[in-house]
Amino acid sequence: MCPNFWASKKVMITGHTGFKGSWLTLWLKSLGADICGLSLEAPTTPSLFAHANVGDGIRHEIQDIRDFKGVASVFNSFKPDIVIHMAAQPLVRLSYDSPIETYGTNVMGTVHVLEASRRAGSVKTIVNVTTDKCYENREWIWGYRENEPMGGRDPYSSSKGCAELVSSAYGRSFFENDGIGLATARAGNVIGGGDWAKDRLIPDLLNDLERGGTLHVRNPNATRPWQHVLEPLSGYLILAKRLYDEKVSFSEGWNFGPTDDGERTVGWIAETLAAKWGVAAQIESQAGEHPHEANFLKLDISKAKLQLGWQPKWSLDVALDKIVSWHKAWISNRNLQELCIQQIQEYNSDEVIT
Ligand SMILES: NC(=O)c1ccc[n+]([C@@H]2O[C@H](COP(=O)([O-])OP(=O)(O)OC[C@H]3O[C@@H](n4cnc5c(N)ncnc54)[C@H](O)[C@@H]3O)[C@@H](O)[C@H]2O)c1
Repeated sequence: MCPNFWASKKVMITGHTGFKGSWLTLWLKSLGADICGLSLEAPTTPSLFAHANVGDGIRHEIQDIRDFKGVASVFNSFKPDIVIHMAAQPLVRLSYDSPIETYGTNVMGTVHVLEASRRAGSVKTIVNVTTDKCYENREWIWGYRENEPMGGRDPYSSSKGCAELVSSAYGRSFFENDGIGLATARAGNVIGGGDWAKDRLIPDLLNDLERGGTLHVRNPNATRPWQHVLEPLSGYLILAKRLYDEKVSFSEGWNFGPTDDGERTVGWIAETLAAKWGVAAQIESQAGEHPHEANFLKLDISKAKLQLGWQPKWSLDVALDKIVSWHKAWISNRNLQELCIQQIQEYNSDEVIT
């Protein structure tokens, strides 16, 4: 992961108080980067940010990305070299209840981050983190390639499709001429220790397991691709470095999804997680109407493998092992920052898929 490269870089991470942002901040801190995090407060209680002391040793700015002046002021005083933009309203179900907040944060918030990057005069590289849901989902069995149309049926997915279009326009209107590299990164359904977000499968299952009761799932037969959080994060870091070194040639969209091994039903995940926890699963399908969520959505990752040399390292089985050991450590009050760094080191030292 090139500590020599990162140790001399000032990195702005938006969304650093969130699940992915906390892992990324710890990873970049361990590589010696000078970090400024810009976000709202951690979105959950408990949170990885609080319990792994992610804010120690970084500049920590609580700032709403819907407020352009505030965002620009943080960028102007920190003067980052590299921006990794992850702050977002990331939940599909919440986006049905709060579409204005979702579009405001995910679309105009992205405009504000890009504009602040442009005006800061220091930024050379931007990775804008969107999602696999940015594609127009045709509910088919094949993986989406980076050049397929943007879309999104629900407000969250559509807001991320819009964020992709914003990035494309900013790239072509400003950044190409200014020699600034801007890429978008599309991944989906990440899992890992330290996620307590509402209505996500793994946090819900761990909650049920902790209470020793029945596992409640909305749709046990739905098949989704799953990957450990460190997989896409490693992709963002590789992409940021290549963009920094080679700029415009990497300024496009990139998929970071799992291999076919990561495609499993919700029921399989529940049963396997319970077995790893040490109990026999009792699964109950939750009755009732649920808002529409995309069913099968798969990414074609050929481009990232071939052109970035990135590839998934942990099978779903290994990813679930890491989650169970992480969560048990959390229950027994272990030092979570040390545990995250240990898992990052384990990830780094695994060469091929295990
Ligand atoms: N978790 C997943 O499975 C997944 C899948 C695909 C894409 N993503 C994307 O990855 C990114 C991070 O997701 P996550 O799961 O860590 O989410 P999260 O909810 O854990 O974290 C979101 C972060 O954004 C910040 N934020 C939210 N609204 C903000 C605002 N108005 N101003 C400033 N900061 C704000 C929060 O404070 C937090 O730091 C998001 O862009 C999300 O769309 C996540």
